[in-house]
Amino acid sequence: MCGIVGYIGNRDSQGILLEGLKKLEYRGYDSAGIAVFTSNGLEIKKSKGRLAVLEDKLKDDPLEGSVGIGHTRWATHGKPSDVNSHPHTDNSSKFSVVHNGIVENYLDLKDELIAKGHVFVSETDTEVISHLVADEYDGNIVEAVQRAVKRMRGAFALGVLTEYEPERLVAVRFASPLVIGVGEGENFIGSDIPAILEHTRNVYILNDGEMAVLTRGGVELMTTDGENISKEIFHVDWDLVTAEKAGFDHFMLKEIHEQPKAYRDTMLGRIADDGKSVNLKELNMSDEYIRSIRKVHIVACGTAYHAGLVGKSVIESLARIPVENDVASEYRYRSPIITPDTLVIVVSQSGETADTLAALREAQKNGARVLAITNVVGSSVAREANDVITTWAGPEIAVASTKAYTSQLIAFYLFGLHLARVLGSQEQSAVEELIEGLHALPEQVESILEQAPVLKQVAESMAHHKSLFFIGRGVDYAVAQEGSLKLKEISYIHSEAYAAGELKHGTLALIEEGVPVISLVTQEALYEKTLSNIKEVKARGAHVLAIANSGFETEVAKSVDEIFAIPKTLPILSPALAVVPLQLLSYYASLALGHDVDKPRNLAKSVTVE
Ligand code: G6P
Repeated sequence: MCGIVGYIGNRDSQGILLEGLKKLEYRGYDSAGIAVFTSNGLEIKKSKGRLAVLEDKLKDDPLEGSVGIGHTRWATHGKPSDVNSHPHTDNSSKFSVVHNGIVENYLDLKDELIAKGHVFVSETDTEVISHLVADEYDGNIVEAVQRAVKRMRGAFALGVLTEYEPERLVAVRFASPLVIGVGEGENFIGSDIPAILEHTRNVYILNDGEMAVLTRGGVELMTTDGENISKEIFHVDWDLVTAEKAGFDHFMLKEIHEQPKAYRDTMLGRIADDGKSVNLKELNMSDEYIRSIRKVHIVACGTAYHAGLVGKSVIESLARIPVENDVASEYRYRSPIITPDTLVIVVSQSGETADTLAALREAQKNGARVLAITNVVGSSVAREANDVITTWAGPEIAVASTKAYTSQLIAFYLFGLHLARVLGSQEQSAVEELIEGLHALPEQVESILEQAPVLKQVAESMAHHKSLFFIGRGVDYAVAQEGSLKLKEISYIHSEAYAAGELKHGTLALIEEGVPVISLVTQEALYEKTLSNIKEVKARGAHVLAIANSGFETEVAKSVDEIFAIPKTLPILSPALAVVPLQLLSYYASLALGHDVDKPRNLAKSVTVE
């Protein structure tokens, strides 16, 4: 998974490419490079490390020219190194390729090309593409690319240049995201819209198997079979400033603080003005279909998977339909029992996660209807699903997901209430109580955010431990899993999340003097049971911090070392509050340890490889 950009116009391309890559660094940042047509021909500069390393290299020795492509990498085939960085070229150095995705049959193609005399310098699958295009070239770059991609299996978004035709930039999309920006006398390619938004608001969103040939004067669209196509221009009306840090030290902190707004925006227009019902008018599914649903599968990866764990409780309690959760990378391979009365819900912030997309396709192939909960309009998941609930969290830049997760929770509450309305599965009074609870959440989150300094202190004392544990029961366990992931992702502290009652069946052996245990205690019906589990770890020397619901925090306080109370809410809504202190704890722990909060090691924001 990587980010690609490209430019053809009359301005100097280097700055435009580097700016675009900056916006795409969330997709990977272990190396970067650009290729530009200069007076010396097609020149490439690339290096291992953050984009800043490349920028330094180019400062003294810029690449001057008005046509170029660029890449920011998240290594899949071949370790991060200068030589494995993109753009790649062939032996003649006349072709240059940037690639996001994986060519699955690259070893077969490589052997074939080696037999023909091609010499490879990197370990990447991408280098094979540049050699393959060169091999197929007989005077027309568009046809050469078409022939090359026909031979490739896997996922790819490509930007291709050749010195033989310096007036054309060729772009291809197959299972990796790619958009084309249309300007005046200049055109762009990018892995996403923010990468080119500074220059144009008019874009074409390519589908799989489509390609674009860009010149200064225009964009020609066609399939990879060479059939011309026409598409409507998508006019982007969001603001680039929303993607900036807005005065916060890190995107993550900014995004944590944006949650009240994200909650409000995600609810907007979906709850009746009288507060009596939820109607998701954007759904295409009929009431008759809803009445036919017998089971739900919720499929996602990472943080989105954790939102789905809460979604299970929401749907089961509000609609009384059984729900199974799966991580998307496992779903396809376990032969899930999908019948026409199975509703599959895929959850994805980016809408581009390869495993989630594959699960969506598998579900549809087996006759299920797929509902997507996603944050990116026009993403692959959004386009392929039968129904979409968009989470209006706005662009999420930090690798560690925060506002997208909580907006996904809001989407589940709304969907649960939508089902309950159609199925009549809830008393009207319960529905109204829930809606009231939902409306209160944004302000309640604000009150938690005001207590950030307290959490900062706790985080600083916790940060020097090698290992810690999160425990909880019911939805608290689901939140514990997200809290643990958040901490691991950005602070690199080992942590495990356990169902509080399960700890004693093995993991309790790891509890010793001083080990921090963060216990979620927000469920009134379960808090006495959780208190017993807290006592078990306390008896073995653990230092316990409880996140408790106001109402019984005084009781909980007696049994723990530290307590953080969240405002009183309904049990099912508590994840939308309880996760916020956990996000802040992770943030401040990472900060205390001096890590790069927004760009944790080894991770990427959007994983478009399986
Ligand atoms: C990556 C990110 C996670 C994210 C997961 C799923 O691993 O680092 O933060 O939860 O992908 O991403 P999605 O865009 O599908 O929600």
